[in-house]
Amino acid sequence: MSGALSMKHKNKGQTGKGSQQIKAFAGKDRIKMIIKTERLILRLWKESDAADLFAYAVNENVGPPAGWKPHENISESLSIIRELFIPNKAWAITDRENGKVIGSIGLENDKRRPGLASKELGYSLAEDYWGRGIATEAAKAVIQFGFRVMQLDMISVCTGNANKRSQRIIEKCGFVYEGVCRRCYKIYDGTVRDSRCYSLFREEWEIQNGSDSDASDQALLQIKPNPRHQEIK
Ligand SMILES: CC(C)(COP(=O)(O)OP(=O)(O)OC[C@H]1O[C@@H](n2cnc3c(N)ncnc32)[C@H](O)[C@@H]1OP(=O)(O)O)[C@@H](O)C(=O)NCCC(=O)NCCS
Repeated sequence: MSGALSMKHKNKGQTGKGSQQIKAFAGKDRIKMIIKTERLILRLWKESDAADLFAYAVNENVGPPAGWKPHENISESLSIIRELFIPNKAWAITDRENGKVIGSIGLENDKRRPGLASKELGYSLAEDYWGRGIATEAAKAVIQFGFRVMQLDMISVCTGNANKRSQRIIEKCGFVYEGVCRRCYKIYDGTVRDSRCYSLFREEWEIQNGSDSDASDQALLQIKPNPRHQEIK
């Protein structure tokens, strides 16, 4: 646990319009896709992060609520980085104070909406960091990146009925509840779960956060818009 992070905990919740300075950069080289928030730097995963991933992914409180098996060893974490995180351009959530990898967040293909400019949000965080508004801070930044840089039309997210923490993040990010997809998610141990589904249209997000011309977006648009941003989809 980072002392500096604990001190900043008093800022929890101040992640809305005008209170969070988000800076992102998606340069010519997509490997440099970086989002900076008040307490975090989100950057693409590297193979050298395997030990940090394993350190939190071995915890049985982290993977199973999201539907994935706790990691058994560092080589399993390395495989996940190679086969899942890097191809999907997931971000490692890092502590801005010390660079430590503390979680993962990504926008994956929205399986329910093939052919549309829609991505599905997913995230997980090391248990030591829970309850400080960190996942919400990361999620809001990624949503902003999705709409402003990736030019998505919508972002969806699904979570289990029992995952109240995740439901609260989703609520704080302004998603609209769609309903329950019953018995639609078979997890690693063979259990079949219902999924609570939510989505957010770009126009809904703009009403909540301001339109393109809003000054609160200027920090993000220190990102130099670049033709290749479209390719991030
Ligand atoms: C879900 C997860 C990312 C939350 O991270 P976090 O940084 O603690 O989340 P935040 O602090 O931003 O927000 C959590 C919210 O849930 C609330 N909460 C916590 N426990 C709760 C409970 N049992 N019931 C209802 N709300 C709860 C918190 O109070 C907070 O809301 P608040 O800011 O209004 O007080 C983290 O718990 C995790 O990695 N879980 C395992 C993986 C997972 O479930 N991923 C999501 C898959 S959809």
